[in-house]
Amino acid sequence: METLSGNVLQNERQGEAYQATDTSDIDKPKFYLESYGCQMNFSDSEIVASILLEAGFESTQAVESADLILINTCAIRDNAEQRVRKRLSLFNSYKKEKPGLLIGVLGCMAERLKKKLLEEEQMVDLVVGPDAYRDLPKLVRQAEEGEKAVNVFLSREETYADVSPVRMDGNGVSAFISIMRGCDNMCSFCIVPFTRGRERSRNPYTVVEEARSLLTKGYREVTLLGQNVDSYRWENGEQVDFADLLAMVAELDPDMRIWFSTSHPKDITEKVVHTMARYPNICNYIHFPAQSGSTDVLYRMNRNHSHEWYLDKIRMMKRIIPDIGLSSDIMTGFCGETAEEHQETLRLMDEVRFDMSFMFYYSERPNTPASKKMSDDVPLATKKARLQEVIQRQQQHSLENNARQVGKQFQVLVLGKAKKSNQQCKGRNTHNRMIVFDDQGFEPGQYVTVQVNDYTSATLIGEPVNE
Ligand code: SAH
Ligand code: SF4
Ligand code: F3S
Repeated sequence: METLSGNVLQNERQGEAYQATDTSDIDKPKFYLESYGCQMNFSDSEIVASILLEAGFESTQAVESADLILINTCAIRDNAEQRVRKRLSLFNSYKKEKPGLLIGVLGCMAERLKKKLLEEEQMVDLVVGPDAYRDLPKLVRQAEEGEKAVNVFLSREETYADVSPVRMDGNGVSAFISIMRGCDNMCSFCIVPFTRGRERSRNPYTVVEEARSLLTKGYREVTLLGQNVDSYRWENGEQVDFADLLAMVAELDPDMRIWFSTSHPKDITEKVVHTMARYPNICNYIHFPAQSGSTDVLYRMNRNHSHEWYLDKIRMMKRIIPDIGLSSDIMTGFCGETAEEHQETLRLMDEVRFDMSFMFYYSERPNTPASKKMSDDVPLATKKARLQEVIQRQQQHSLENNARQVGKQFQVLVLGKAKKSNQQCKGRNTHNRMIVFDDQGFEPGQYVTVQVNDYTSATLIGEPVNE
């Protein structure tokens, strides 16, 4: 599926190996963990690693040396599942040389297919759903003894609030914190409510503690994650909503940047945007998936808002934060989408002019409301052609928006070396725009003022300003 590359907060990631430091200890069983899907799944992998390390396993980045291979999977679109199946076949072929090798499927595909992967397809030894990771050490023991090891129980309470995630070996500056799990929305196209279960919010004090601990380890930005952060709610004598939680995390340290994802058009409140405006360290950027610009399509998608409602929310944001950075998810070719309805999506894009979008064509998911009640009747070629139009329109808007940044100065948080040149650094401004600039010995985690001189559709090019 195609996406426009940009700064990844929410789009689907593919097959990245868990990279904790390898610590070789010949006595301990070794696990190799590969992750797919959204940022929340990657966050879960950090929980999984923590649980396994605690139970006496070692992590390895070398799949050949692993005793246990785990794939944390995504079920959002069919091709996400196909990629995992290919990996499973490959890993299964290793069993010829290493008969004791165990293979486990975690995450959303495990939850969707349940025992099927183990019994009918015999591709795996363990099947573990997103709410059952505490059970992993026990399930591994069961699998070692040749028993069926399956736990796909979905919980109404589990938030792993007390499990300290073992951070992926990233840049040491940016980290993700899950603030809630599950989703109660039932958008008709979406598998997530079935794979992740009911929505539940995590204790806000554990979120703040996790952010504080990251700060002491040198991290300088956190992204608060949930499928619908605007419905975050904690009630336990006191009431904490998402805006309150944002403020609590923002107050930790003015040098710690706060991002969040994903906001839902039907639920975002003015209070959230006012809170963003009040704290300079809450970044001025909202990922705000529109899915479609057609009110009729949105109704069929069960998104519970119209084209006009969406635009009203954008106007509200721009009134409070005029230069706010905006991105979207857009889907083409949903059930019954007509040429006119597709034009409505392009019209919405022209009206909002997103900085970036993740763009997909509709992929029917078994047992979702859309698959049960509607016909997936837009031909694949039409879905793809419409996707191309959407991608082109987005590219044009990204380029135009970036052109308008030339001559401006921004405070940039340095994330590391630029991809293309070692002489350059990369970093992000508060609008989530990536900026590359000459490295004058900057360290990741440092703030630098950069003047923008040039641009592409994905990146701004600038020069450090010596203050
Ligand atoms: N909770 C987020 C979305 C999470 S899924 C929200 O409500 O915005 C990420 C994106 O994947 C969705 O926004 C949607 O654009 C896309 N997506 C979800 N189901 C899909 C499907 N069946 N086919 C194609 N794209 C899909
Ligand atoms: Fe899926 Fe809708 Fe929930 Fe997002 S809000 S995860 S699209 S059901
Ligand atoms: Fe995320 Fe994919 Fe599951 S997008 S919630 S890993 S279906």
